[in-house]
Amino acid sequence: MTAQIIDGKAIAKSIRSQLKNQVAERIAQGKRAPGLAVILVGSDPASEVYVGSKRRACEEVGFISHSHDLPSNTTELELLRIIDQCNEDPSVDGILVQLPLPEHINEEKIIERIRPDKDVDGFHPYNVGRLAQRIPLLRSCTPKGIMTLIESTGVDTYGLDATIVGASNIVGRPMTLELLLAGSTTMTCHRFTKNLEEKVRQADLLVVAVGKPNFIPGEWIKEGAVVIDVGINRLEDGSLVGDIQYEEAVKRASFITPVPGGVGPMTIVSLLENTLFAAEEYHD
Ligand code: GUN
Repeated sequence: MTAQIIDGKAIAKSIRSQLKNQVAERIAQGKRAPGLAVILVGSDPASEVYVGSKRRACEEVGFISHSHDLPSNTTELELLRIIDQCNEDPSVDGILVQLPLPEHINEEKIIERIRPDKDVDGFHPYNVGRLAQRIPLLRSCTPKGIMTLIESTGVDTYGLDATIVGASNIVGRPMTLELLLAGSTTMTCHRFTKNLEEKVRQADLLVVAVGKPNFIPGEWIKEGAVVIDVGINRLEDGSLVGDIQYEEAVKRASFITPVPGGVGPMTIVSLLENTLFAAEEYHD
């Protein structure tokens, strides 16, 4: 079997164009353009690239982007104050604080300070709790984007054995909840998991988010599995590879996401969808 490639770039483009139309319709009805505050602390090069893409995507669909670029020595209290201002600003529908934060700032405290109705990253315990109780509102962006990609394949997730490799708050844990909600039988693997190979080999649906180049051998992929690679790793020669050995995996999977151009573009699109959702459901 040779896998069909899930074209995240094309799917993301099509959703962005729908969002652009929805924003234009809002404006025609005399409503505000949705506003997204993007807060970056410090100058981590990868975070600068991600934040730049998020701000550009925002403006492209007609949202208002509010930029807060703060020096790396910003105190926790100063950051909390900026979040308070954004919480109170009626032109801001969504607040995104780019992670990771410098070590002297407590991430959990920052995330909890964002008002749940403006938590467009879906990281606040309120929103994660809603998803855990099968009543999601604002959903974490990368897992939400992955669910859109899986839906695009037409594969029915009910009853599938799904293995998720990686248990981070940003991807692995909310991904497990999304797939559970979608009727899959989920197995979440992490650094203490015994016999990872066995758990990957049995997966009808595999999601890997560990950030290690070619971590999962392609030979481990079950014949006909749906394979989602969240990793984007730069090798010394400058090329980008995922967490799964692609060349072998593509011969065994039924559907597979490429790196780049698979999951990456969907994270940003989910952020835009969440911001519009927050504007319409909570703030209009
Ligand atoms: N850092 C890596 N991924 C993300 C994300 O989806 N949102 C935020 N805020 N920070 C990140």
